[in-house]
Amino acid sequence: SHSLSPPSSPSTPPQVAHLIGKKEDIAKAGHVTKLVNGCRDVLVLFHQGRYHAMDMRCYHAGGSLLHGDIEEFNGQQCIVCPWHKYKITLAEGEGLYQAVDNPTVKPLRTHWRSKGVKQRIHKVTELNDNVYVTLNDSTEPIESDVYQTEKYRTSVVHF
Ligand code: FES
Repeated sequence: SHSLSPPSSPSTPPQVAHLIGKKEDIAKAGHVTKLVNGCRDVLVLFHQGRYHAMDMRCYHAGGSLLHGDIEEFNGQQCIVCPWHKYKITLAEGEGLYQAVDNPTVKPLRTHWRSKGVKQRIHKVTELNDNVYVTLNDSTEPIESDVYQTEKYRTSVVHF
């Protein structure tokens, strides 16, 4: 089986941890994408010794985050979408933006603010040599959900 717990019914419950690949391979590649549970395209990243997982298409307009750079903003590690450079925190999937403190004061001074959680983050488990992802099945809609459809799936390259 490719899962930690065998599916008890024909449709696998989302809380099952799905095998993504070998730790070593993902660390070497830096990032991989995988269709998880036949229903969700997930990006798994290795950054500074840790694995992270999130929906693979950006909440803004569906850009693939596979080749997004990882940079620190406001003390938070973020993936930067290659399409329009939106910044998404790896930890929570928050969208960050630069707010202007006071538009009447020149030069303008800005600080980072959060737009809230925009990208669905999934749980990563390391077990033995492998990396597993448990889908975040929170029923609260998250903006990146919009791009988890067949239409957007056709262009995906899988690991
Ligand atoms: Fe990601 Fe626009 S699609 S920033």
